[in-house]
Amino acid sequence: MRTGQSDSDPAGGGGSGPDLSGETFAGFDGVEIHGANGYLLEQFLQSRSNQRTDAYGGSIENRCRLMLEVTRAVLDVWGPERTGIRLSPYGIANDSGEDEPMPLYSHLVGELDKLGLAYLHLIEPRASGAGQREVDNQGVPSAAVLFRPMWRNTLIAAGNFKRDGANDMIANGDTDAVAFGRLFISNPDLPTRLRVDAPLTPYNRATFYGGGEEGYLDYPTLEAGG
Ligand SMILES: Cc1cc2nc3c(=O)[nH]c(=O)nc-3n(C[C@H](O)[C@H](O)[C@H](O)COP(=O)(O)O)c2cc1C
Repeated sequence: MRTGQSDSDPAGGGGSGPDLSGETFAGFDGVEIHGANGYLLEQFLQSRSNQRTDAYGGSIENRCRLMLEVTRAVLDVWGPERTGIRLSPYGIANDSGEDEPMPLYSHLVGELDKLGLAYLHLIEPRASGAGQREVDNQGVPSAAVLFRPMWRNTLIAAGNFKRDGANDMIANGDTDAVAFGRLFISNPDLPTRLRVDAPLTPYNRATFYGGGEEGYLDYPTLEAGG
């Protein structure tokens, strides 16, 4: 999010949606559609959760329908250059999971690619459920490696990355960027630390998901001597 942004029509969507210029834009640069981790759109996607017999259930095309409709609606307002989507193929968070992910996700990624979204953000299956507990799932494929050939715009990978692994993945061309979760919580200046290869402050899982004043705003920056 960027604060203090206002003047022009930064969304540039040109669709029939609300006017996103000025105050209504609220300082955001764009929208990431959450199609991962067992949340609603993923529940429609996967055969384990989607038991519908109407146009939104059954075939792969039908199960992808809601996610694609939502994506087109968001694009109408924000425009493709300000819209991204997050997916977790082979993920098992929140009891999600698809017995045969490749046919489903190949179709979905192909359809999303046609829409020209700014980026696709993939959660690596090895880190599925990392929000709830420490995981390093073995014997699972790399989502970025699998789907890179199907995606023409920016690809972001997330999940259990450290500095060197992230740099290697980008250098290999398997992803364009890497997103960090837990380490960003405990290192508010994470980009600087990665740039200068500074030590990282370990996170305290006990303070995740709120509860008290400790844990989100009190990790030190390098500048502050952390
Ligand atoms: C405290 C916490 C809250 C999270 N909340 C969400 C969430 O609301 N939605 C989501 O998709 N992922 C959520 N995640 C998962 C992260 O986005 C990320 O995919 C995961 O932590 C793996 O990346 P990492 O290894 O860099 O931490 C959360 C993770 C943590 C630790």
